[in-house]
Amino acid sequence: MNLVIFGAPGSGKGTQSEKLIEEYNLHHISTGELLRDHIARGTELGKLANTYISNGLLIPDELMIEVLDEIFKNDPEKVAKGVIFDGFPRTVAQAEALSEMLKEYGSEIHAVVGLEVEEDELIRRMLERGKQSGRSDDNLETIKKRLNVYHRQTSPLRDYYMEKGKYHSIDGNGTVDGIFGLIKKALDEETA
Ligand code: AP5
Ligand code: MG
Repeated sequence: MNLVIFGAPGSGKGTQSEKLIEEYNLHHISTGELLRDHIARGTELGKLANTYISNGLLIPDELMIEVLDEIFKNDPEKVAKGVIFDGFPRTVAQAEALSEMLKEYGSEIHAVVGLEVEEDELIRRMLERGKQSGRSDDNLETIKKRLNVYHRQTSPLRDYYMEKGKYHSIDGNGTVDGIFGLIKKALDEETA
């Protein structure tokens, strides 16, 4: 089973992914974490990504797709076992590239879990995390830019996956465990 966990910045993608990888024995591919790791190690990719991330902008599609392609090539086992994609795809171009890449491995995206959270709550969560996270994008100015970018470039994917019958809308406003329960219910109904 390959899943996409989808939602605005701060919607809980990383938090719910941790629980999902245990429950369903999946690999976790978080493009945000991957890029932050490159920044910490000072790689060429990290240097380039840093400017985009700290300005709340998306890394260009072409580069991001190349990075994903590398992961698949270096570790085809991941795709064989099943992956939860967190933070990818973020544009329709990325979604189409992902579908092509998975096709090469005889696979596809089976379900998209969309976490839907009120904007005030998103901002509250990210500001709270920003007190400790050291993330260059967890400050009010950049959070506002990230939310704008989400509405402009990423949210159209909701309709994209809805039309394919893959989108599961989840109320992401409650407690971590409560939300996880809703996700499990949606996925278990899907695979029943
Ligand atoms: P990325 O790392 O993907 O960040 P994001 O989408 O902005 O989302 P976050 O990681 O901030 O939030 P989340 O949804 O994971 O929520 P979390 O579980 O942490 O991307 C960062 C940047 O990298 C992008 O802006 C872009 O520049 C670049 N990038 C990455 N992928 C890219 C791509 N594919 N293409 C182009 N560029 C890309 O939760 C948030 C906080 O809330 C946490 O502190 C958590 O503990 C807390 N929390 C979680 N759930 C709850 C709850 N139910 N109740 C209360 N608190 C909660
Ligand atoms: Mg995250």
